[in-house]
Amino acid sequence: MKFGYFDDRNREYVITRPDTPLPWINYLGCEEYFGIISNTAGGYSFYRDARLRRLTRYRYNNAPTDTGGRYIYLRDGVSGCYWSPSWQPTRHPAEEYSCRHGMGYSVIGSAYKGIEARTRYFVPLGENLEIWQLTVTNHRPAAARLSVFASVEFCLWDAQDDATNFQRNYNTGEVEVVDGVIYHKTEYRERRNHFAYFACSGKAAAFDTSRDAFLGPYNGWDKPAAVAADKLTNSLAHGWAPIGAHQVDLDLAAGESRQIVFLLGYQENSADQKFDPPNSQTIDKRRVQPTIAKYLDGKEADAAFARLGEYWKSVLGIFQADTPDPHANRMVNIWNAYQCMATFNMSRSASLYESGIGRGLGFRDSNQDLLGFVHMVPARARERILDLAATQLPSGGAYHQYQPLTKRGNNDIGSGFNDDPHWLIIGVSAYIKETGDWSILDEPVAYDNQPGSETPLYEHLQRSFRYTLERLGPHGLPLIGRADWNDCLNLNCFSDTPGQSFQTTTNKEGKVAESVFIAGLFVYAGRELAAIAERRNLKAEAAGYLDEVAKMEKVIDEHGWDGEWFLRAYNDFGQKIGSKENEEGKIFIESNGFCTLAGIGLEDGRAALALKNVHEHLATPHGIVVQQPAYSKYYIEMGEISSYPPGYKENAGIFCHVNPWVMIGETRVGNGDLAFDYYSRICPSARESISELHSCEPYVYAQMIAGKDAPTHGEAKNSWLTGTAAWNYYAIAQWILGIRVTLDGLEVSPVIPKAWPGFTASRTYRGVVYKITVERKGEGNAVALTVDGKAIAGSIVPPPPAGVTEVNVLCQLS
Ligand code: GLC
Ligand code: GLC
Repeated sequence: MKFGYFDDRNREYVITRPDTPLPWINYLGCEEYFGIISNTAGGYSFYRDARLRRLTRYRYNNAPTDTGGRYIYLRDGVSGCYWSPSWQPTRHPAEEYSCRHGMGYSVIGSAYKGIEARTRYFVPLGENLEIWQLTVTNHRPAAARLSVFASVEFCLWDAQDDATNFQRNYNTGEVEVVDGVIYHKTEYRERRNHFAYFACSGKAAAFDTSRDAFLGPYNGWDKPAAVAADKLTNSLAHGWAPIGAHQVDLDLAAGESRQIVFLLGYQENSADQKFDPPNSQTIDKRRVQPTIAKYLDGKEADAAFARLGEYWKSVLGIFQADTPDPHANRMVNIWNAYQCMATFNMSRSASLYESGIGRGLGFRDSNQDLLGFVHMVPARARERILDLAATQLPSGGAYHQYQPLTKRGNNDIGSGFNDDPHWLIIGVSAYIKETGDWSILDEPVAYDNQPGSETPLYEHLQRSFRYTLERLGPHGLPLIGRADWNDCLNLNCFSDTPGQSFQTTTNKEGKVAESVFIAGLFVYAGRELAAIAERRNLKAEAAGYLDEVAKMEKVIDEHGWDGEWFLRAYNDFGQKIGSKENEEGKIFIESNGFCTLAGIGLEDGRAALALKNVHEHLATPHGIVVQQPAYSKYYIEMGEISSYPPGYKENAGIFCHVNPWVMIGETRVGNGDLAFDYYSRICPSARESISELHSCEPYVYAQMIAGKDAPTHGEAKNSWLTGTAAWNYYAIAQWILGIRVTLDGLEVSPVIPKAWPGFTASRTYRGVVYKITVERKGEGNAVALTVDGKAIAGSIVPPPPAGVTEVNVLCQLS
């Protein structure tokens, strides 16, 4: 069953009934001001950091779900009936409802008793504000007298404090209302130099800033007393819960349409220009007033919306493909790329499942996110890489997470996740392959943000590589530390105390437990680093890396191979994990995915054999599970992985992030059919028809789909912020369609299904537009390239002479 449909031409997903299985959200903003918005206008906004600069409140884990948002109410002056055009919060049935989630905007609205009302929500480029453009149309044969109300509930900035420290919060709230604009200025009197505002273009009849006055005692947002009474009371909040609410009275003739613009924004003043007059407690509004006046003008708002559309057209235009599969097309051309922007911006901080207060930016997460993002805005990828590298420790290890606002490593979670350093090599390599900007390697970057500790970025990569060499275990495999990619495989934790963090508790010395996954990662990253060293003319150094890589491959061969697949790890007792000798958890996806992706065992058939076993033991119609058999009980020596009920999360759930590793592995053994089959199993668009089961949005990937051991097999959770976005984009674009960036130029080497006659694509790469046509001549993956009419050897298109901006590539597969 579906709850809407894809409108590919407009790059929108159109939801046609409001009661989706879960709130289906979208992101507003792609620079510094952000919001999440559900299909019924739930969600919240923040400036840069979802924890420290939260503008509006949202109630996670609430019943009813999705409480707190950008709520508009209409009231019929004759019948006294009131409703919300976005369905929530009144949940009044409408005759027609739709939510169009598009690229950086959402249009939500409905029709009720001849009154149509739709709101377009978006954030203009270059501004720290959001625009709500509400259009109300009277389709009745007679005039209508309506009142319009728009409301937000302010968060007192620090979202963590806001949800916990009530003895203080109930006393600090302060607002100002000037010229019909509501200013939220809690803590502005002391150390904050920022405030929020909520403005309205209509001739405001009245306002409210006290939640109690607006809702009335014991009422929820579904029944605001002031809306029912058709009268806001011009209340001023003193402590308690400050809100912003505007009332506009609308008389509409038959057939008449009217637009009202609401603005919610964030503004900072410099410390010495805080108050006006300077010795008062009144916000200096002189810098923000022109911005407010500008965007309250509907024409300016329309122009800003058009600019946003152009921006997305150009960003998405960098890579477009036309394949025989409509699901792949819309994911590659629209939604998967769009999701990659969100994961780059948010990392894992703010979604319906990430509360915005839990974690900052992940080191490994953000590096992996680059794989799907770097081509879109390389300059921002560069900046991110340098920020990430600055949280690296002198040892080469890294803070697992950092706070985006301060750019400092997060001490609570610390370091010691022994895979982390290698992702930096992979992120930097992806950046250079895309841009050819070798200068990034010479950028001075500090360690642990300590001034004076700067070295060129290149040395950070050297230390990343060495970090593993200095931490090898009894078999010569990398020691796992707190955990590797699988945050829940905690082999040094042995926790028996409820509530202890599995990620930070370490009860063992950590000198025994080893990871075959990190070994595969080391081989992959080591080759990338060697290729970089080689091109910097550091031949001996490059040879040294390859030597270490070869040694590690040998160790994997001797101690990381279980006979039919790659082992997963050794635990603190030196026992195998992910082996046929185990009763549960005999085979794991991560080591098999990453080792085959890295090309380990390609020559001697072990890669193909491992993949065959992954298919046999781990693949389900809904995707590939993490391991089998699932852990049926808690194993103290395994950690968090066995804390989950079977089939969920890392305990044999379908962790979508790692599925593409197997897809890429399949392309490396030349199996395009299975690679694409795996792609389709977790592809959100391909799962749209089972939306009732899948539950999450059909336009973006979720982190997890319940595995075959779960009672709800096929049900997705934790959509949007997941490494799944980048990895699937990378797998389909660069490995299956095979349009791959390399240090030496653009490679075209598809491994597509046998039944595909071919496909076409356009890729802008280092300033040149490559128009690519792939034709199938035979069943295999052998590539013959013709570039601008001339046959060339190999699969890398030579960079064209300066001045050439378009190149035609014909790729024949046989
Ligand atoms: C989450 C984390 C990621 C980790 C994965 C597997 O997605 O953000 O860092 O690799 O879980 O545990
Ligand atoms: C939990 C999650 C895992 C995540 C980790 C770190 O353990 O299961 O996916 O990576 O937390 O935040």
